[in-house]
Amino acid sequence: MSVRPPVVQKRHLATELPGPRSRELMARKHAAVAAGVGTTMPVFAVEAGGGIVVDVDGNSLIDLGSGIAVTTVGNSAPRVVAAVQDQVAAFTHTCFMVTPYEGYVAVAEALNRLTPGDHDKRTALFNSGAEAVENAVKIARAHTKRQAVVVFDHAYHGRTNLTMAMTAKSMPYKHGFGPFASEVYRAPLSYPFRDGDLDGATAAARALDVVEKQVGAANLAAIVIEPVQGEGGFIEPASGFLPALAAWCRANDVVFVADEVQTGFARTGDLFACDHEGVVPDLIVTAKGIAGGLPLSAVTGRAEIMDAAHVAGLGGTYGGNPLACAAALAAIETIEAEGLVERAREVGTLMTERLRALQARDDRLGDVRGRGAMIAVELVRPGTTDPDPDLAKAVASAAHAEGVIVLTCGTYGNVLRFLPPLAIGDDLLGEGLDVLEAAFAAAARSEATR
Ligand SMILES: Cc1ncc(COP(=O)(O)O)c(C=O)c1O
Repeated sequence: MSVRPPVVQKRHLATELPGPRSRELMARKHAAVAAGVGTTMPVFAVEAGGGIVVDVDGNSLIDLGSGIAVTTVGNSAPRVVAAVQDQVAAFTHTCFMVTPYEGYVAVAEALNRLTPGDHDKRTALFNSGAEAVENAVKIARAHTKRQAVVVFDHAYHGRTNLTMAMTAKSMPYKHGFGPFASEVYRAPLSYPFRDGDLDGATAAARALDVVEKQVGAANLAAIVIEPVQGEGGFIEPASGFLPALAAWCRANDVVFVADEVQTGFARTGDLFACDHEGVVPDLIVTAKGIAGGLPLSAVTGRAEIMDAAHVAGLGGTYGGNPLACAAALAAIETIEAEGLVERAREVGTLMTERLRALQARDDRLGDVRGRGAMIAVELVRPGTTDPDPDLAKAVASAAHAEGVIVLTCGTYGNVLRFLPPLAIGDDLLGEGLDVLEAAFAAAARSEATR
């Protein structure tokens, strides 16, 4: 088995970014890969671990993105590597629907144990977040014998046909790709930064009024919501919003589905974001951080709902692939053994303190928000709440040029988001934030000379 030395935990720029080898590879990408598949940074990775991604030119970049919230336990985390190496040598695939294997069952048991609520649960495994969201809807429809699905403003649920319909933002996710699936309805979210002093209960009443008037509980199979929105801008609803929606669903026999694809597995400083307010969803959708970088997703929920789909109604060739299951069990063990829920809170405290200090000196940082290692700043034109996507782009580009991977998001494209791997050290995280601070200062200088 190949054993590589650990990746050196130091930012290092050997060339300008992108370097010559990355530029060559980018030319090959343009000639070979469909133009619709974009990249955030123009550098090609060769190795990653802890809080560092190394590129083909020998540049070591600080990772504040975790490949969009995936490598929560770190890239090539030791337990994940050992488990996958062992599994790949044993067998790579039989298809769980043909000759099942223990790893799949063990992941289901782990998810049934770890997800919110101590009721009887069942789990089904899939490949991607979008595929799992689609299956949650299928299951809710089979259980309720109803069709409608309610989602929220700013939501992101994926890029398949049904999940495009469920996603709010047109460009780039939906533009030109219609027609979309029917029976998907959108309700207003609680967005504290833009809602004035609307509290969670009132925002929930506003949303439920739309649901009752425009859909009707008797037609509604499921409400699907991200407990903290991801691509939509790391929007954390006001407290009381989620519990009120969950209670309404319970009272109306509507399936309450938490899409924890981005928020799950310690990311927010709880094992699941629903835990924060003690919300127990009927179904919970997980992916991303579940398997340390291998493609795996799941729907977990109340046994009587999960078992509503007929035998052979759920599945797929690769769903719950043995390598991904081995990785998931190792990732879960890593989260538990290394106290990563607690580590996410520490990371959150460190980032929030630094970003709030920066906000106190710079009124372009309209809002600093988030929980655990899922933190964002929403950028605005000073003295207003008008979104400033150009500033977000400028700061992200300046950070990229200095070797720090940061991502943007938000309906208005004006949110910088931070999703560091929990294997990152405080020093590296601090250095990443130093670079970010300098990037804000540089953006100020370039504005002044505009
Ligand atoms: C909340 C949420 N749901 C669903 C998805 C779709 O997951 P995938 O890209 O694995 O299909 C994402 C991806 O970013 C997500 O953040």
